[in-house]
Amino acid sequence: MHTQKLLENLDNVDLYHVNDINQVDFIEYEYVGFASGIYHGQLSNKIMELAKEFKLNDKARVSIIYTCGLKIKNYAKSLEKTL
Ligand SMILES: Cc1cc2nc3c(=O)[nH]c(=O)nc-3n(C[C@H](O)[C@H](O)[C@H](O)COP(=O)(O)O)c2cc1C
Repeated sequence: MHTQKLLENLDNVDLYHVNDINQVDFIEYEYVGFASGIYHGQLSNKIMELAKEFKLNDKARVSIIYTCGLKIKNYAKSLEKTL
């Protein structure tokens, strides 16, 4: 919910919940962001699974956004590797 609230404050963003993206063709997007809270030291499992099969435009620029309780490391590292 923290993460969603943060994203809802961004302008010009099409926001899709990870559970509702089956119908969306992300190939059209030039910029794609993956967002999640941190749970037990990692991004949501659903986001990690999605990233493994995600089809991006070759030229797409990708960002990773997360909210967490304790900012003690880069929690995005494993997703960066997957992407
Ligand atoms: C079950 C659970 C586990 C969490 N584990 C961590 C953690 O390991 N490290 C951390 O920094 N924050 C942790 N948090 C805090 C969340 O990452 C933080 O509240 C985040 O904003 C949650 O995002 P959301 O509200 O979008 O789900 C945890 C929160 C919950 C509920």
